[in-house]
Amino acid sequence: MNFNITDRVTWVGKTDWELKWFHGYEYSVHKGSSYNSYLIRDQKTVLIDTVWQPFAQEFVARLKDIIDLADIDYIIANHAEIDHSGALPALLREIPETPVYCSTNGIKSLKGHFHEDWNFVPVNTGDSLDIGSSKLIFIEAPMLHWPDSMFTYLTGDNILFSNDAFGQHYASEFLYNDLVDQGELFHEAMKYYANILNPFSRLVKRKIEELLALKVPVDMICPSHGVIWRQDPLQIVNKYLAWSQAYQEDQITIIYDTMWNGTRRMAEAIADGIAAADSSTEVKLFNSAKSDRNDILTEVFKSKAILVGSPTVNRSVLASTSTFLDVAQGLAFKNKSAAAFGTYGWSGESVDLLTTRLKEAGFNVVSEGIKTTWNPDSDALARCHQFGQQFVGQL
Ligand code: FEO
Repeated sequence: MNFNITDRVTWVGKTDWELKWFHGYEYSVHKGSSYNSYLIRDQKTVLIDTVWQPFAQEFVARLKDIIDLADIDYIIANHAEIDHSGALPALLREIPETPVYCSTNGIKSLKGHFHEDWNFVPVNTGDSLDIGSSKLIFIEAPMLHWPDSMFTYLTGDNILFSNDAFGQHYASEFLYNDLVDQGELFHEAMKYYANILNPFSRLVKRKIEELLALKVPVDMICPSHGVIWRQDPLQIVNKYLAWSQAYQEDQITIIYDTMWNGTRRMAEAIADGIAAADSSTEVKLFNSAKSDRNDILTEVFKSKAILVGSPTVNRSVLASTSTFLDVAQGLAFKNKSAAAFGTYGWSGESVDLLTTRLKEAGFNVVSEGIKTTWNPDSDALARCHQFGQQFVGQL
């Protein structure tokens, strides 16, 4: 189904209710997603982005239902990643001469993906394209979240087509931000930021400040995933500004894996100690082998501190904690304190290993951590409780 957003702009994307994983199996999707493509009909006809490759034929067929493809004057590829460019080969087989406007890095990336020498037109920030009664203005947005990413602004309707920025993996029959559950919307927007954009926060902040300094009217922000921001569209821009500056809430997240529940019991005793010392801080616990990694990382993004626990196994740590720390290191969280804990029977390396990994991942390790042997007895659990109390005091 296509939707008219304004007299000139029609959403011609694809809602993917089935999607469970994104970026291979790196990003869990609980509420589906959409690949938003927009058709602008002024004196010239412009298509902004396409959809993921599995939906290419359906996308082209639906476009044909509403226009003659030969009427498309320009294609804008705001971002080359396959979820937005996947239908370009099918589309350009039908209209091979149509110019494809994108950043210089976009050309490299599209050629790298599809090995086609389409009629590329490179654009830079500030370049514009007259399409009749309105204009398209291009704004490069490198590393939001790929080197080729860019935004396109439509004058007249005052729409910012922001591609991945401000998006969410969130399928909804309702196209707009004011029509959906606000808790779900902001949770998915934050998960998207925490798991995709966080490493580039410095550039996000700079780009947003640059955008706000332009003082152009923004009536709508149309991202390439999820709902369109039409009610107070700058609210998501302001959220991004906050999220890009070492964001934290009054939360401590405890992440652990356990073999025979000893490390779980330590985690719970530490949590009790934190709660006893500080009733205002929210404490959340996750078994990293059982809970969704991207959801845990979203909780880490919200946290002022984390604790990571694993028993010692084969002089190492349990795999789920190691994988969690691998991904956390890549996401480059800032301004978060941390410590490690774990049980052991013989050699007891896990806490030192986790401490080293936390430091390597950029966490501010505030203590040497706590170890207990075997299944912690009441004395050991009392030490964990005290450790939790001390940990809060060190923040
Ligand atoms: Fe939605 Fe970077 O692709």
